[in-house]
Amino acid sequence: MAGSANLNVMMKTARKAGRALLKDFTEVENLQVSAKGPGDFVSRADRQAEKTIRDELMAARPTYGFLGEEDGEKPGEDPTRRWIVDPLDGTTNFLHGLPHWAVSIALEHKGQIVAGVIYDPVKDEMFHAEKGGGAWLNESRLRVSGRRTMIECIFATGLPFGGRSDLPATLQDLARLMPVCAGVRRFGAAALDLAYVAAGRYDGFWERGLHAWDIAAGVVIVREAGGFVEPLTEGADILESGALVCANEPIFPSFAKIIRG
Ligand code: IPD
Repeated sequence: MAGSANLNVMMKTARKAGRALLKDFTEVENLQVSAKGPGDFVSRADRQAEKTIRDELMAARPTYGFLGEEDGEKPGEDPTRRWIVDPLDGTTNFLHGLPHWAVSIALEHKGQIVAGVIYDPVKDEMFHAEKGGGAWLNESRLRVSGRRTMIECIFATGLPFGGRSDLPATLQDLARLMPVCAGVRRFGAAALDLAYVAAGRYDGFWERGLHAWDIAAGVVIVREAGGFVEPLTEGADILESGALVCANEPIFPSFAKIIRG
């Protein structure tokens, strides 16, 4: 499994940011009981992680553009390439001391995601893929699950929170899906949801209201593991619409039909 120079830069960067976030996470666990709670501390950790990632990536590839959750878009001299970064996916989990969050870094070239890494520092799991090079978890090759019937399958999603308007649609999805599958999980980090589909831990995933940085790396990892990822609305752009459905190949048609209503 020899990755390209770009993939090596991405993995090194994700590990560096991940190590610092892991230290902060230990502190967050202590802050749960304080009167003020860990809110400000976590915002600082998130911003610092994005800065670390931006500095590392820009030092290695000064001409590439950068889109990050915290600082938004910074166009580069090379308009064909940009990094798409979520320094801390699963922020609410992190804030509550729940050990399920990740660093997500993708590389886009001419509008296509060509490489992605999703690093979970708590479990030391580095999911990574490059277009045409397969998907990997640390040193092991990844493959989506082989389940063929809906009733055996476990799916993941994100439930809209804080008054987001897509709650009714998601509740309708659940009403159609629950009677015909083995279960639905909501773990709270979309990047890891996609990585888990690639690893065959989930059989599929769908969510609305996501951002490019939540999903860019996961899209290439799932595809390289043999899975299907499509925008929820056929023909839309996945990253722009932020609504997607993904699954292994045999399940995708039935699952997508249920989710698309
Ligand atoms: C969130 C997580 C969560 C999803 C939310 C996202 P963040 O990303 O991926 O699973 O349901 O829609 O905003 O804010 O933790 O980077």
